[in-house]
Amino acid sequence: MNINGKPHRTIWIHPDNSEIIQIIDQRKLPFKLIIEDLISVDDIENAIVDMHVRGAGLIGATAGFGMYLAVCKSSEDSFKKELMVVGERLKNTRPTAVNLQYAVERQIEVINSCNTLAQCIRETRSKAQEIADEDAAMCKSIGEHGLGIIKEISDKKKGEIVNILTHCNAGWLAFVDYGSATSPIYLAHDSGIKVHVWVDETRPRNQGARLTAWELLMHGVSHTVIPDNTGGHLMQHGLVDIVITGADRVTKAGDAANKIGTYLKALAAKDNNIPFYVALPSSTFDWKISDGIKEIPIEQRDGNEVKYMDGLLDKVEQKFLIMPEKSSVANYGFDVTPARLITGFITERGICSASAESIHHFFFR
Ligand code: MRU
Repeated sequence: MNINGKPHRTIWIHPDNSEIIQIIDQRKLPFKLIIEDLISVDDIENAIVDMHVRGAGLIGATAGFGMYLAVCKSSEDSFKKELMVVGERLKNTRPTAVNLQYAVERQIEVINSCNTLAQCIRETRSKAQEIADEDAAMCKSIGEHGLGIIKEISDKKKGEIVNILTHCNAGWLAFVDYGSATSPIYLAHDSGIKVHVWVDETRPRNQGARLTAWELLMHGVSHTVIPDNTGGHLMQHGLVDIVITGADRVTKAGDAANKIGTYLKALAAKDNNIPFYVALPSSTFDWKISDGIKEIPIEQRDGNEVKYMDGLLDKVEQKFLIMPEKSSVANYGFDVTPARLITGFITERGICSASAESIHHFFFR
């Protein structure tokens, strides 16, 4: 996607040094565009935990490159053993998004099939790039499939503006490129369909206000940032035509974990008869589990993310305490929207209903 007219991905290998991985440090957006160099597994681990990179697809791709960097730093005689330990470490950085685990497992398969360290460096590098490229390609196809849904609403409204509500950032910043929930929106906008996006600010890290709004602004898509609790009111007043969110892990029965607060939007959408779609690459399905509420691990993050807010004051980034310091806080990163509240999944293969039978038929027929 473009930043000030220049194409960017969210992660890439340094053009002059293949042992450096470069990322956009998302903690600094929308105020500054900082490109950060990652040179070790510690850097990768830190970038994922502290959310320099975030979003299911992107943390998967970052872990893939992390395994490659770990191989580069390994020794010939013990590389396989060392890398199993690194794999476990990376898998535990963020527990909810399943893409992270798949990326590490794919790299471990490659590592186990290699005979020499030199071969392993070559092959994990190309696998990391493959994981990243696949992520971008899947998101592009999600856009093509989701476009049809937006077009249908636009046709029904005789070309009037289609109002789309989204939560968190399931945009290109959450993946390697294009995004999941935003990919159909960008295509609709590019093809001349009138769209407007309601962007949930998404407390506590404000990925909606800081990242989704910035992305949409860069692409010239009309949007309005709203406090998290506004969606229900807008829906009751006919101001939302469709909700599209992303997902961090979806079970084979169609329960979807996404950023905390998504479930409440799905309930409000159901009550107001508004289609609620989840856009995701198939790498976000967890084929091993069915019951999302019981089986998806929900990350709990540092309470300071709730107690303090970041922002700009007089052009300087500042942190503000926004509550009594001694009050306790809870910071669950995700919630699970049961399949019964989801109209359908927009995937790289097409649109699929949210039930165990449809998902099975759709992916394994
Ligand atoms: O905590 P984050 O920012 O990594 O949250 C993940 C997300 O980006 C959202 O839940 C998003 O909607 C999922 S789409 C990758």
